[in-house]
Amino acid sequence: MKGVVLAGGSGTRLHPLTRITNKHLLPIYDRPMISYAIEALVQAGITDIMLVTGGTHAGEFLRLLGNGHEYGIERLAYAYQDRPGGIAEALGLAERFAAGEGILVMLADNIVEHGFAGTVRRFETQGSGARILLSEEKDPTHLRHLGVPAFAADGRIERIVEKPDEPPSAFAVTGIYCYAPDVFEVIGTLEPSGRGELEITDVNNWYVERGSMEFDVLEGFWGDAGESIDAYYAVNDFVRAHGANKG
Ligand code: TTP
Repeated sequence: MKGVVLAGGSGTRLHPLTRITNKHLLPIYDRPMISYAIEALVQAGITDIMLVTGGTHAGEFLRLLGNGHEYGIERLAYAYQDRPGGIAEALGLAERFAAGEGILVMLADNIVEHGFAGTVRRFETQGSGARILLSEEKDPTHLRHLGVPAFAADGRIERIVEKPDEPPSAFAVTGIYCYAPDVFEVIGTLEPSGRGELEITDVNNWYVERGSMEFDVLEGFWGDAGESIDAYYAVNDFVRAHGANKG
């Protein structure tokens, strides 16, 4: 299985910090944010990785990560997204890199307390469709800013709702997704949303509608460091106190 780390976007919620650098180069405790996603993938056994970024600071990623060997990466490929056209658009740039293999995708502003090697293993056994990681979130106010799954009576996901006024469950869809190679065909069918982006939730709902979406629930802390300045500092505080990417 190959890995794709997405580090493009505009980072407007962290302005003005992100006017002068890429969000994923900002520090989380003692390291640039991007290094946590890279470490999480390597720990999960994924060492063939593509980093997708964009904007004016793309060169800094090369300076930080180089060929990736220092981080335990066997092969590190880079792609450049011309404009922030959405998470699904960024993922689409990895089609030739994936070359018909399954992929694990991680948004580079997501930080996890515990690794997800089990999810990678289970997706390899699953062999098709998609598998996403959820995180339990009891605060409905927070859920109103996130993607939230609605569950059917049999416990399967029946729909993912973006930023629901009435959250249909107490779980958030994190930025960690496994896809079979047909994901690139799905991306090819997407239409831009109201905000002009190709939406990853549309990709996920494509698999949900076909009954081929599985999920795991992440253990421990999950943070989206790009959600707000307060979230950025909450993630910093957590990592400083407890660490990240523990086994
Ligand atoms: P978002 O946080 O949804 O978008 P953003 O990073 O542009 O931030 P903001 O909404 O504050 O302007 O994106 C989540 C992750 O997805 C982010 O870490 C980077 C990645 N991403 C891309 O790689 N390309 C894109 O076009 C977008 C929108 C996001």
